[in-house]
Amino acid sequence: MTTHTEERAAELRVALADGLEASGQLTDPTWRKVFETVPRHPYVPEFWALTGEGQRRVTSADPDWLDLVYTDDALATQLTDGVATSSSTAPGLMLTMLQALDVVDGHRVLEIATGTGYNAALLSERLGSHQVVTVEVDPVLARLAGSRLRRSGYTPLVHAGDGREGHPGQAPYDRLIATCGFSTIPAAWLEQVKPAGLIVCPVGWGTVCLVVADDGRAEGRFLPARSYFMAVRDAGTTGTPAHPGRPDATSGRLTGLELAAVAEDEAFRFVLSLVAPDTGFAFERGDDGLVTAVELWGTDGAWARAEDGAVRQAGPRPLWDAVEAAHELYVEHGRPGRERFGVTVTAEGQSIWLDTSSRPVPRAAATA
Ligand SMILES: C[S@@+](CC[C@H](N)C(=O)[O-])C[C@H]1O[C@@H](n2cnc3c(N)ncnc32)[C@H](O)[C@@H]1O
Repeated sequence: MTTHTEERAAELRVALADGLEASGQLTDPTWRKVFETVPRHPYVPEFWALTGEGQRRVTSADPDWLDLVYTDDALATQLTDGVATSSSTAPGLMLTMLQALDVVDGHRVLEIATGTGYNAALLSERLGSHQVVTVEVDPVLARLAGSRLRRSGYTPLVHAGDGREGHPGQAPYDRLIATCGFSTIPAAWLEQVKPAGLIVCPVGWGTVCLVVADDGRAEGRFLPARSYFMAVRDAGTTGTPAHPGRPDATSGRLTGLELAAVAEDEAFRFVLSLVAPDTGFAFERGDDGLVTAVELWGTDGAWARAEDGAVRQAGPRPLWDAVEAAHELYVEHGRPGRERFGVTVTAEGQSIWLDTSSRPVPRAAATA
């Protein structure tokens, strides 16, 4: 990189930090200093940017590369069969999660989902590389992130493996942060984070902040921030349920639920992501812009399509029944925001609750 590039990048970081402070996403002066110090561009020499016309491939040879790198946007860095399977998370959301992690000097952190390595670089700058372990399921990405980190002067332990297992070899950790999406918090993590330690992890369309208790349970609420992470996956897969086409419906009935209320209410879509986990979702609009159809499908072959006041369903989970139940709960409790929901995890399993752990939210989870 030329000195000019580095100077311009430093200016852009300050401008982005100002913007993130103004929007309330960056509140901690220590993290501001870290953010201004660590460049993002060495980790994203090429990516796909979302534009009005779809996905555009951007490389460091493009004149707007640096400007796009220093925006508050997620940058897709790997596509598998057209599905993004790795990215650099939007900086505002990364900082929201890092601040929720509430680290102090001396803390040891396990990061799940190394991706580009940029978040590991921020953690290494804040705490020292030797305090950071990061796990990436894709061995090629792990290698690339490791070498980019080293070139920038950071040497956290980068492990190629399945983050659902954590990294017991270096446990215990004071903090665990995950940057891919989960429907269930892996029980293995509870054994690797110290009592009173924190776990910050995307669950559905939100991010939960759990406190680990002395008895090995972990419990906490969702952050208010919107968060949409790519799903945790096995190596070589996308983690996204493949659309099943148009299966033969095994049941059909009328539905009174307005399709726009399902498709266009972001707060409800978060609730739905908890109630019907591991589920693909799509909707269609007519020429007048109104929502005309909503479709859901699961990894287990469950499928539902609602249009013209009727719904057809197939497979082991009646997904539209779950949508209606979630909407009833949502309306009955005054359209609750993310921060009213919480998660309790024990070695035996996980429950998601509204306001208090004594009010569990029923889930229509995939069985296979
Ligand atoms: C949003 S990116 C992570 C962003 C990253 N923290 C950064 O700063 O660039 C999500 C990453 O999760 C990884 N991932 C998915 N499933 C995983 C698993 N089971 N274990 C570890 N990493 C996983 C993906 O390969 C992808 O690189």
